[in-house]
Amino acid sequence: MPVIQVHDKQFQPYINEEQLQTRIKELAAQLNNDLQGSRPLFIAILNGSFMFAADIFKHLDVNAEICFIKLASYKGTKSTGNVVTAIGLDEDLFGRTVVILEDIVDTGKTLSQFLPQLEHQHPKKLMIAALLHKPEALQYPIKIDYLGFSVPNKFLLGYGLDYDGLGRNLPEIYQLVE
Ligand code: HPA
Ligand code: MG
Repeated sequence: MPVIQVHDKQFQPYINEEQLQTRIKELAAQLNNDLQGSRPLFIAILNGSFMFAADIFKHLDVNAEICFIKLASYKGTKSTGNVVTAIGLDEDLFGRTVVILEDIVDTGKTLSQFLPQLEHQHPKKLMIAALLHKPEALQYPIKIDYLGFSVPNKFLLGYGLDYDGLGRNLPEIYQLVE
């Protein structure tokens, strides 16, 4: 697969389609094993996680529900700092087994602000499944329960991840050529 150009930057192939799909099937198998009988609710975080969510959900054989939400960050007061709100989260999480689906955990900032809001609803269990994680970028401690790939702190593109709006449609993941 050749180097591609998106906007002003070049990207080289990094994780191919087969590697992605193989790893996603492995994660789904772990989830199937761990979530038997629990009727879990998956919460996929838009926009980036739409491909990961669709692919992993196909391989689940437990009775699972899924919803898609968007997180919006806005400036709160000085004392509250930035505030994250979830758009589209209508489900009651009380007593539920909940699995967040994220494309990438980078600094961990948004999730670290959002997770306490979910905990507030007293789910029975709250877990995170992330396709990608950049450990070097992490600034806020986040425990990832199901991780696809640990990656270096370089900009990635494709399979849901965008560079200024483009590239989400690519079926594999590319890395910025520096
Ligand atoms: N690529 C695209 N979007 C992102 C990334 C990345 O590497 N990290 C966090 N959001
Ligand atoms: Mg983006």
